[in-house]
Amino acid sequence: MSKDFIKPSSFHVAIIMDGNGRWATSRGLPRIDGHRRGVKALEKTIEAAPSFEISDLTVYAFSSDNWRRPDVEVGALMSLFRQYLEREVEECAAKGVRLSFIGRRDRLAKALVQMIQHAEAKTASGRKLHLRVAIDYSSRDTLLQAARKIADGSDWSRERMAACLPSPNVDLLIRTAGEQRLSDFLLWESAYAEFVFLDVLWPDFGRADLHNAVDVYKARTRKFGALPAA
Ligand code: FPP
Repeated sequence: MSKDFIKPSSFHVAIIMDGNGRWATSRGLPRIDGHRRGVKALEKTIEAAPSFEISDLTVYAFSSDNWRRPDVEVGALMSLFRQYLEREVEECAAKGVRLSFIGRRDRLAKALVQMIQHAEAKTASGRKLHLRVAIDYSSRDTLLQAARKIADGSDWSRERMAACLPSPNVDLLIRTAGEQRLSDFLLWESAYAEFVFLDVLWPDFGRADLHNAVDVYKARTRKFGALPAA
């Protein structure tokens, strides 16, 4: 078994927060209202995560393919990210939440990049939870970038590859809104993740749903291709 799978002190949960648009349109509201409620659901999830011993939480906030959405929705999402950072960085720092952002930065507005850098510096010492927010993120692009990095050296090991990726191996991957696909999220890191697909739309996701997903995860036997421990 590759040793990078054994990290008993960490519990990495990744979430594809799907269903904001459906939540809003089913109520006759603009899609952005669904995203706004999605931020609240995320805040509740961050609050609840440490009580389930989650050490690492990675959330898919904006994929590189989401640029193909209408300008008005892209703009609204970007301003939600800015507002979140304006509002929550101090709070994260105070609560021991370390904030990191994964994904491309060269296509983001300079002001947002500066806020991201400030948030990362301000919360760097947080040890209660490491929250990674994926913005302009594509796992295939991230893997290409990592491959470019290791191409210069002679170490083509899994460990070297993993060290070039911005996120650790995923233990539990949750996707909401009834969809069952990865959508270019953490492809390498999810090699042995347990998947839990929930019908709940992301804005309705709460502590009980997280609890349920963690319980499902705990009931699974993780073998990593070997046989279950005697
Ligand atoms: C997918 O639902 C959701 C997104 C593309 C955006 C997710 C973003 C948030 C929850 C906000 C995160 C905020 C911060 C501050 C990190 P969808 O729009 O594809 O839903 P649909 O499939 O029902 O249309």
